Amino acid sequence: MQPTQRTDEVPFHLTGAFAPVFEERTDRDLTVIGELPPDLCGTYVRNGPNPRSGTSPAWFAGDGMLHAVRFEGGRARGYRNRWIRGPYAPNTNVVRHAGRILSLVEARLPVEVSADLETVGPYDFGGVLARSMTAHPKICPRTGELLFFAYGAEPPHLTFYRADARGEVVQSTPIDVPKATYLHDFAITARCAVFYDLPVLVSSFKSPAPFAWDDGYRARIGIVPRDGRDEDVRWFDVAPCTISHTVNAFEDGDTVVLDAIRAPRLFTPHALYRYTFDLRTGKVAEETLDPRFVDFPRVHPAFQGAAYRDAYAVELCDFARGGFGRTRLHKYDVARGTSVVHDFGSGQMPGEAVVAPRPDATAEDDAWVLLFVHDDRGPSALVVLDAQRFDGDPVATVRLPCRVPFGFHGAWLPDGA
Ligand SMILES: [Fe+2]
Repeated sequence: MQPTQRTDEVPFHLTGAFAPVFEERTDRDLTVIGELPPDLCGTYVRNGPNPRSGTSPAWFAGDGMLHAVRFEGGRARGYRNRWIRGPYAPNTNVVRHAGRILSLVEARLPVEVSADLETVGPYDFGGVLARSMTAHPKICPRTGELLFFAYGAEPPHLTFYRADARGEVVQSTPIDVPKATYLHDFAITARCAVFYDLPVLVSSFKSPAPFAWDDGYRARIGIVPRDGRDEDVRWFDVAPCTISHTVNAFEDGDTVVLDAIRAPRLFTPHALYRYTFDLRTGKVAEETLDPRFVDFPRVHPAFQGAAYRDAYAVELCDFARGGFGRTRLHKYDVARGTSVVHDFGSGQMPGEAVVAPRPDATAEDDAWVLLFVHDDRGPSALVVLDAQRFDGDPVATVRLPCRVPFGFHGAWLPDGA
């Protein structure tokens, strides 16, 4: 099925690269251009909105559909896509922790799915989660813990959770904030969690316009020990802003460094931005690392919460003209503030890239970068880039049997992990 043409009547999220697909497929032994590394073994899976009815009031409102490509022994063994089933279908992200694969959206409980993407059902961590879970939990590479939060219009507006490596929730900490504010993502370091309390108020997720900017709301970022209580939060006043996604955060002596995708107002282009919080003096320094509108940041999973150098993000080149239009991919060196661009060319729209570390790698960028690329003229591709030759030809391009609409977030699920 060809995507609907965009018109004045049809919003961007139902046309072109965003248009939904209507078929669930299972295809085996895909054609590969180039050579897949034999030690790239596992499954890449990505979530995104795909309204069953063909229409939805907003991009983020569509039913979630997972798309997966399986790699084994230097071959692309198959492609599969499935809707999440049930009364609601989380559409934002997917995470695997303690043997469970969870489909996530921030306003609802996660939905567990099987390895072949079939819906198991809502998952509440054994009755611990009452309402919702962020779509951006963090897996600590040192402890194997899953750190996450829930937020919402009803008090407590913010609760921080820590699950151990077996998936048991061992801590839930309400954090006192004056009002419910938009909180799509947070950050962790080796010892801390970092929360944003910014001037975008949440009315109700049932409202068609759940978020509103409030000039009178004090913009703060809070740092709390991972095993701390509400009274342990150190709040830092920052310039008013909104943050869509965290790139990464880490401790450096008496400072905490936070890299995030930040804009000075709602619905304006976001930039790559750095905060440095001085825990001794209580001062915070702010700087723009790249003023271009980038989002969908990812880092190497073993560098989550640790000093790092490489970040990958999608540049939204045509945002001012509505929708995203054209995208291209950046590999940042955040220590230097530089980036290398991979531009897939006209009509090719790369989405979020995930990092698949090479087994036994020692360098941070000794890794592959995996992503779906939407082609205006036909089926999509799964592209594998060598992170060390980021602007070079892809290592491999896997031809997919159908379009994969531009979506949200995904995960690399390596075999044996
Ligand atoms: Fe997100």
